[in-house]
Parts: sequence; C-alpha cells; structure tokens
Amino acid sequence: MTHSKTVRTERHGDVALILVDHPPVNALAAEVRRDLLAAIGAAASAAGIVGIVLACEGKTFVAGADIREFDAPPTPPLTGDICAALDACPRPVVAAIHGTALGGGFELALACHARILAPDARVGLPETRIGLIPGAGGTQRLPRLAGAPAALDLIASGRHVAADEALSLGLVDEIATDIRAAAIFRARTLAASGQTPRVRDRAVPAFDRAAFDKAAATIRARARGALAAPAAAEAIAWAADLPFDEALAKERARSLDLRTGPQSRALRHLFHAERLAAKMPADDGHAPRTWVVRHAGVVGGGTMGSGIAIALADAGFRVTLAEANKEAAQAAEGRVNAVYDRQVKAGRLSEAARHERLDRLAYTASIEALGDADLVIEAVIEDLPAKQTVFKKLSEVVRRDCVLASNTSYLDIDAMADMVDAPERVVGLHFFSPAHVMRLVEIVRARRSAPEAVATALAVVKRLGKQPVLCGNGEGFIGNRLLMRWRQICEFAVEDGALPQEVDAAMEAYGMAMGYFAVSDLAGLDIGWAIRKRNAPTRDPRARYVPIADRLCEQGRFGQKTGAGWYRHVEGKRLPDPEVTALIEQVSAEKGIVRRPIAAEDIQHGVHAAMVNEGARVLAEGIAQRPSDIDVVLVHGYGYPAWRGGPMHAADAVGLPEMLRRVEALHAAHGVGFEPAPLLRELVASGRSFADLNL
Ligand code: COA
Repeated sequence: MTHSKTVRTERHGDVALILVDHPPVNALAAEVRRDLLAAIGAAASAAGIVGIVLACEGKTFVAGADIREFDAPPTPPLTGDICAALDACPRPVVAAIHGTALGGGFELALACHARILAPDARVGLPETRIGLIPGAGGTQRLPRLAGAPAALDLIASGRHVAADEALSLGLVDEIATDIRAAAIFRARTLAASGQTPRVRDRAVPAFDRAAFDKAAATIRARARGALAAPAAAEAIAWAADLPFDEALAKERARSLDLRTGPQSRALRHLFHAERLAAKMPADDGHAPRTWVVRHAGVVGGGTMGSGIAIALADAGFRVTLAEANKEAAQAAEGRVNAVYDRQVKAGRLSEAARHERLDRLAYTASIEALGDADLVIEAVIEDLPAKQTVFKKLSEVVRRDCVLASNTSYLDIDAMADMVDAPERVVGLHFFSPAHVMRLVEIVRARRSAPEAVATALAVVKRLGKQPVLCGNGEGFIGNRLLMRWRQICEFAVEDGALPQEVDAAMEAYGMAMGYFAVSDLAGLDIGWAIRKRNAPTRDPRARYVPIADRLCEQGRFGQKTGAGWYRHVEGKRLPDPEVTALIEQVSAEKGIVRRPIAAEDIQHGVHAAMVNEGARVLAEGIAQRPSDIDVVLVHGYGYPAWRGGPMHAADAVGLPEMLRRVEALHAAHGVGFEPAPLLRELVASGRSFADLNL
C-alpha cells in the first residue's frame, strides 16, 4: 500500500480505501495525479485485496483539476490516464463522494465501477464555465449513464447537480449517509459477483437526434461568441457517433486546445477575480469581526426594495419592509407575492418553500418596526435629500450597532452618513435590478465606514449567494462610471451616423448580453434624465453632449414602460422606430454633422477603450481596489461577455500600447473627458499590464 503527502491507502479487511488529502478542495494537482495513479496501481495488485474505495479527506471530494496549473502545459499523468487505469483495474473501484465532485473529480468517479453519494453532496462538470470541455472522458461517460440530452444540459450549463437528481439521472448508484461504509460494502458485493461494470462499455441510450441537434443549435446561438458550450455539444455527439477510444482522444485534444486559448484564460482570470473580490482586506493583518445579522429591514418597496427583500428572505433572513404608508406597503407586498407566484407557477419554487419565505417577510407603514433590525437597507427614490431624511429617521429608531446601508447607484454615502448617530456603521449596498436575480452587489466603503460594518455587509452579500465587490465612495462607484463611457460612445456613434439598433447589434456581436439602447429602454430613460438635469450646472461646457436622450424624454418616451424610448415596444417586441431615426437625423443636422456609416468594429473598439480608460481612472482614484474587481462588476452587473474576462483583462489581451492608441484616437475625436488616463500611460511606459496590479 502506498502513502504520500497527498494520497494514502488504508486497509479495511479485504478492501483498500484510497484517500486523497490535498486541501482546500482536493484539486488534482500534478502531485496528486501521480500519487493517485500509484495508489490505484498498488491496490489493484496488492495481495488480499478484493475491491477498492476512492474517497477524500477534508470538506469535499476532488473538486476538479488544479486550475492554477492551467497556464502551463499539462504534466503527465493526466486525469485521463488515471481514468484509464480505473477502467483497466481488475478489481471493482467504488467512489465515495461527499462535498462536491466536480470536473476532473467527477470524471474520476465516472470511471469508477460504482458511485455512492452523500445526501448533501453535489456533482457536476463545470468546465464550460472556465472555457473548457471535460478532458478525461466526461463528455463520453456522462451520456452513457444519463443519456445524451441530459448530458448536454449538464455539461453545457456546467451546473451542479444535487443528490436526488444525480440518482434519478443514473449518475450515481446510491445515496448513503455513511458513504465509506456503503462504498466498502458495494466494493465487496461487486467483487463477490466478479463484476467490474465499466461505464465505457455501455451504449449511449437511444435519443431523439433531431431534438438534440436543435438543443445544440440553441446553445450555439446563446453562447454569444463563447466556444466551450458549443464544443461540449459536439463532443457529446461523438459519444453516440464514434467508438469510445476515438471519441475520447478527440475530447482530450479539444479540451487541451481550449485550455491554451484566450477564452479559457479569460474565464480562469474571472474565477480568481471573483474570489479575490469577495475577500475582506485585512488592513492590519487581522480580518475584522462581523456582526450577527438575523433581522434585516428594507426601507422602500418599489422594484429595487421588493427585489432586495426577496433576496434576503430567500437566504433565510427575517425581513421587515417599511413603506411610507399602508397603501404603499400593500403594493410592495403585492410585488413580492407576484414574484413568488411566478416562481411557483414555473415550477422553480415549491409551495412549502413559498410559505417559509412569506413567513419570514413582514410589511409595515411604520419605520419604528425596524427597531430591532440588525441591518437596514434603504431603497427609496434616487434623491439625496429623500435618502438623507430616511437615514435621519432610521438613526432615531434603530439600535446603535445596526448596520445602515443605502442601495443608491450614484449618490454620496458620506452625505447620508452625516445624518446618523454613529456614521461608522453606514455603507453602500448597490444591488442590480432585478435584485433577487442579479448576482452583483457593489459594497461601498464610505469615508468613516468601520471595517466591521463592511465585513458584515460582505458576509450578508455572500449569504445571499451574490458576488460582492468592494468599492470606494465616488459618484457611480465602479460600474456606473464605466457605463457612462459606454453610453457616451454609443450616443456619439448615433449622432455621427449609426442608428440605435446598429450600435446595439455591434455590441451584441462583441458579446454583450444587450446593447446600451436596449438596456436603457428596459431600465427607463427617466432615471438618467433626472441625473443629467441634476448635474447640468456642473457639466463641463466643453464636453461633447448628445441631446437625443433628453429629447426622447421630453416626448415622454421613457423606454419599455411607456411603449417607446430608443425603440418602439409592441407586444413585448423591440422595434426600430422611424420617429427616432428622424429625431437623430435632425439633431445631427442641427450640429452640422455629416452623417457617415460607422463600422461595427469602430463602435466595439471605442466602447472598450472608453471603458478601460475610465477604469484606469477609477483605479487611480481608489474607487476600485484592483483591475480584476472592475472586470467582475462589468461581467456580473452589465452583461460584459465573461469569455472576454471583463474590460480590463480584455485590454491586457489586446495589449496596452494599442489600447492607449485607441484612447488617443477617442480623445482626438471627442475631446474633453477622453484624455488618456495617467495610469494607462504609466503602465504603457513601464511595459506593465493591468494584471500586474491584481494583488
Ligand atoms: N483548482 C485550484 N484551486 C481551487 C479549485 C481548483 N479547481 N477550486 C477551488 N480552488 C481554491 C479557490 O481558489 C479557493 O482558494 P483561496 O482560498 O486561496 O481563495 C479555495 O480553493 C476555496 O474555494 P472557494 O470557491 O472559495 O470555496 P467554496 O467552498 O465556496 O467552493 C468549490 C468550493 C469546489 C465548489 C468551488 O471552489 C468550485 O466551484 N471550484 C471550481 C471547480 C471546477 O471548476 N472544477 C473543474 C476544473 S476543470
């Protein structure tokens, strides 16, 4: 029996229990692969052993390949070699899975002769989320167990599957509380019957090929430029069409090919960026303590407030939503109930779960009801005096250690903190709409925010299952600062010769989830109008200003909710509007602009360069801690294509000297506001990239 630092084997009578022990998640680093292969070899030939169990120490079964190794060429043995050894093993090998068996970890389990799952364990092949396809037989063995359609769903989405579903799909053989005992028992039973049932020997169950091809086509269409999910669909089809070994070789080659490509590099960057963004900086070497939050208050029950209340209730918090009067409180309750009704109808929420959530939610017209709240999130209209009034009232009502947060998307958190006793407990919590769906939350550290208040906000956001990003207190924080540049370039393109639908199509072709004008119609044009009116006195008169959005608002065209904005909205469809074209042409003519065709690539490069330049400013001002935080914000809050890794990573991929050249071109064309950021110039001069600042 072998013993190494990462893998050891225990004898349980006539069964060898191989234990991987490589914290934190038992990832298959080169050392683990080598030791595991050796352990399987030894157990396969050890005297007195009839069967083998593969299990893990620590919090989880093998959670996949070691992502940190992916920047270098793979060193043998590969996970596929271990799977081949399992296939060749003359003794039955049973996987005992707890925690999460993901990626290469689940592929190992699929190559075992049986799988036992703990009741709270999950399995999955999430490789497409980091721009890959499984490379150790996952696309070949999964369809043999679950069928090609289910394999397509699981691999293309990369979702984790809970125990019940895993059992019903045939991915595992048994759910057991004591997985090791159950696996040892099964290994002996298999050995006694002389069986080593290999998944590779099974045929892929018959399936409707036309329906499969249709689903694969939908996946391709939805990928918006991402390569991995469509590649997974192709590989799953090989399982049905080719002999196992031939398909396996093709899968491995494709996986390695994707691994060295820019998309996987970008998605791996995001994987690390998301985790880095969620860490509380320990300024003095100690992580600050967090305050316990059980009861959360929400002030304001509009779209944002009710969405936030739902997110909190979903995560198990007791929630009290306070509105200005009884009618408004009832309306808020109606909004929340409507969301839950839709979820129940769509089969996404059980009746029992709805009841549990509704039991946690209370509505009130009296702010005093928030007296014992541990955290209150203000979500009233986007108007500083209105928000200040709420903070003042809250300060009189809540405990002194209650964290107070504003859901503002632009406004000054310090000015709200000025209104309260103990301003160190005030932070910003900028949710994105719809708040119960969108993952991003910008956590704003105001001038006096105590580390404990920030850490508490961070812990709450994580408990909501959302992605936190810490940022400083500056108008628009991180995301809306970059959005402002995106908007400007789109509006300039429209004034210079393109139409809204052409600009949106260009950015959607770049991979954005939606074009700026479509998003704007969805969000409502009136909010931006109010902000522009508020900021008009301080606007630099030399800066290029496009008045088209204001003119649309003057006509009552506030977007989808009024049936018209940049587009016309008819029966849920977004249509180009000749009236908007006429208005645009009129504005161009008034300014003496000779309209000209604008190439999609110019729009894409312009938007990207403008965002990156603003990102460099946001960094220099300390609003963002690191470039990768900006990437996380744009991907999770603004529909920036994840496979590009976010704007800052994409800038590194283009090369910063070229990015600087593009920014200089923007500056030459549009003037004030587009001066190259000093940080961008500095990085170019010193031959560095944004990645060098991701500490
Ligand atoms: N390779 C290397 N490191 C990994 C890793 C992997 N496959 N998966 C997780 N880690 C690291 C994380 O970077 C983190 O490191 P840190 O503490 O230094 O930041 C640590 O393990 C814990 O991960 P985290 O995600 O914070 O913990 P969690 O308990 O919330 O989630 C997992 C655990 C396994 C569910 C999650 O990490 C995950 O989904 N990992 C990726 C799995 C995957 O994609 N596998 C297929 C690879 S081909």
